Order: sequence, then structure tokens, then C-alpha cells
Amino acid sequence: MNKIKVITGLMFSVLIATIFTQSCTTSKMIEQKSGAQLWGENCIRCHNMPSPADFTDVQWATIGLHMQDRVNLTDAEAKKIVDFMKSAN
Ligand code: HEC
Repeated sequence: MNKIKVITGLMFSVLIATIFTQSCTTSKMIEQKSGAQLWGENCIRCHNMPSPADFTDVQWATIGLHMQDRVNLTDAEAKKIVDFMKSAN
């Protein structure tokens, strides 16, 4: 009876540890997404994907702020997208 309790307890700890490690890895992966990836995933949801060449660097800075509100991006993600947009003209 006791052995079963110990084994169940161990399995439970391993499960918790696995879930914890995986959720950490997942959020790290989100942080590591490139500007191009974030752009491809987010900017097409409401309208056609604007091409990086469509606007000047100054315009992209403003658009980035404007769209950040709509898309719910973090500051870091919005900066990556804007940097990507700027790098492409
Ligand atoms: C939640 C919906 C939504 C998402 C997601 C979204 N946009 Fe927009 N976007 C709009 C709307 C609505 C307009 C037009 C009205 C306005 O300009 O306020 C617009 C307009 C624009 C314009 C101006 C287009 C023009 O021809 O003048 C650009 C550029 C733009 N978005 C870029 C982006 C980028 C870059 C992203 C990704 C970070 C993005 N949008 C994500 C809703 C969205």
C-alpha cells in the first residue's frame, strides 16, 4: 500500500515538473520569435499584410504603435516587428 503511494507521488511530481518545464520552454519560444514571424502571424488577421517596403521608417514607427494597441503585442514584440519593417526598405 505504501509503495503505491510513493510511486503515485513520484509520478505526480514528474508530471508537474514536465508541465512546468514545458510551459517555460513555450514562453521562451514566443519571446524568441523574430520580427518577420510576428509580422506574418499577427498583421494578417485584420487586413492584407502590409509589405515592409510600403512605408518609410518614420511611418513604420507610428504604425507600430498604432497597431500594437489593436494586436495586443508587448513592447518587445512591437519593436521587433517595426525593426523588421525598417530593415526591409
Ligand atoms: C485587430 C485588427 C488589426 C490587426 C491585427 C492589425 N491591424 Fe493594421 N489596421 C487595422 C485597421 C482597422 C486599419 C485601418 C484603420 C486605421 O488605420 O486605423 C489598419 C491599418 C493599417 C495600416 C495602414 C494601411 C494604409 O494603407 O494606410 C498599416 C500599415 C497597418 N495597419 C499595419 C499593420 C501591421 C504592421 C500589423 C501587425 C503588427 C497590423 N496592422 C495588424 C486593424 C488591424
